[in-house]
Amino acid sequence: MTEQSAKLTLGQKDADLAVRSGSIGPDVVDVTALYKQTGLFTYDPGFSSTASCESKITYIDGDEGVLLHRGYPIDQLAERGDFLETCYLLLYGELPTTREKDDFVYRVTRHTMVHEQMSRFYTGFRRDAHPMAVMVGSVGALSAFYHDSTDIADPHQRMVASLRMVAKMPTIAAMAYKYHIGQPFVYPRNDLAYAENFLHMCFAVPCEPYRINPVLARAMDRIFILHADHEQNASTSTVRLAGSSGANPFACVAAGIACLWGPAHGGANEAALNMLMEIGTKDRIPEFIARAKDKNDPFRLMGFGHRVYKNYDPRAKIMQQTCHEVLDELGIKDDPLLEVAMELERIALTDEYFIEKKLYPNVDFYSGITLKALGFPTTMFTVLFAVARTVGWIAQWKEMIEDPHQRIGRPRQLYTGAEMRDYVAVDERG
Ligand code: CMC
Repeated sequence: MTEQSAKLTLGQKDADLAVRSGSIGPDVVDVTALYKQTGLFTYDPGFSSTASCESKITYIDGDEGVLLHRGYPIDQLAERGDFLETCYLLLYGELPTTREKDDFVYRVTRHTMVHEQMSRFYTGFRRDAHPMAVMVGSVGALSAFYHDSTDIADPHQRMVASLRMVAKMPTIAAMAYKYHIGQPFVYPRNDLAYAENFLHMCFAVPCEPYRINPVLARAMDRIFILHADHEQNASTSTVRLAGSSGANPFACVAAGIACLWGPAHGGANEAALNMLMEIGTKDRIPEFIARAKDKNDPFRLMGFGHRVYKNYDPRAKIMQQTCHEVLDELGIKDDPLLEVAMELERIALTDEYFIEKKLYPNVDFYSGITLKALGFPTTMFTVLFAVARTVGWIAQWKEMIEDPHQRIGRPRQLYTGAEMRDYVAVDERG
């Protein structure tokens, strides 16, 4: 793959570094030998210029607003495919044939129940706990329930663990929700499709039948597709780093969930809706735009900006369309939050500050309004993101484990602390 090299000159010393090309996207300077050749580290906190791994799963062109999974554009997958097909694609590299898809759906569906003891595990949490806190704990606990699929050296166990996680995550998330609102757990139903089953487990109650609305189920499925994977983002990198030490996949995904929770990452959908509610009416938008621009105010427009996209997030376009479909289906006309959102988007897209900094709406901007209309409280938004992203985490984890060049991830640092000094006894410290 090496086509050219780059020369780094430091005083009288030269280092020749290989330059590697991918199938698309920028070339990379391979700095693996830099320390050996020069005694220097590279410094890139936040990884703005650093490719942390080689991957064949997802490609993003942030300047053009392109997102491909195994080469397929996200809009085609969202409009023409379904979530489990996307899962198959991410895990196996190709879209399934009819037979392969039926077999995959069957295998995922047969893993949807969780060990009955798990339900007792939930009751140990406070009822008012944030469901993401419950997710971190309960997904971490999966390795205690499914010991028989934690041997990462066994390809069969790796696949069983992968299917288990894709299959059980909706059940675990729905249980976190039911526990949070004080309703009984609803068991999965294997005659329902993935998103339908999730809505059923969240919103059915034992005292009356729950009817699946196909438009809402399709919207749920599309939300899952849009969040399924996103290259080497913070939570995926966390999963890879955790997995690089040989930790089992359930523990790695729990680490990913913890990372996703933050408001700069998956927590942004919850924060974006809270912000829209705080703004409340269109006339207050200029005040919030002014705050977002004020260097002395930590406030940011949640749902705007992205580390990689310096163009409209391709997922946001589909999410906006899905949002309108859901509101139309539910007969929600003149939703004040949607009005605020659309006006905020219009102003931000024409405002000099946002144009200059290339701050466009991201996927989380419209997902909050959609999820609220579907009936989810804000505290569940990031949980839904975690349900969808699980397949991406798992696909990336599997790819890493199956890479013969894989080594433990161990970044270095630029140390700026005290130099070596001698210990001083406590009574001699002035
Ligand atoms: N509102 C106002 N100003 C902003 C915003 C915003 N949402 N985002 C970035 N900026 C400004 C920032 O102040 C900085 O200005 P300056 O150059 O004058 O210091 C400039 O734009 C670059 O920002 P940055 O923080 O260096 O950019 P980053 O790549 O480190 O951060 C981000 C990316 C997504 C964390 C950030 O844009 C942000 O905090 N957005 C709001 C939270 C959000 O919506 N996150 C969801 C991301 S998409 C879903 C996911 O992948 O999890």
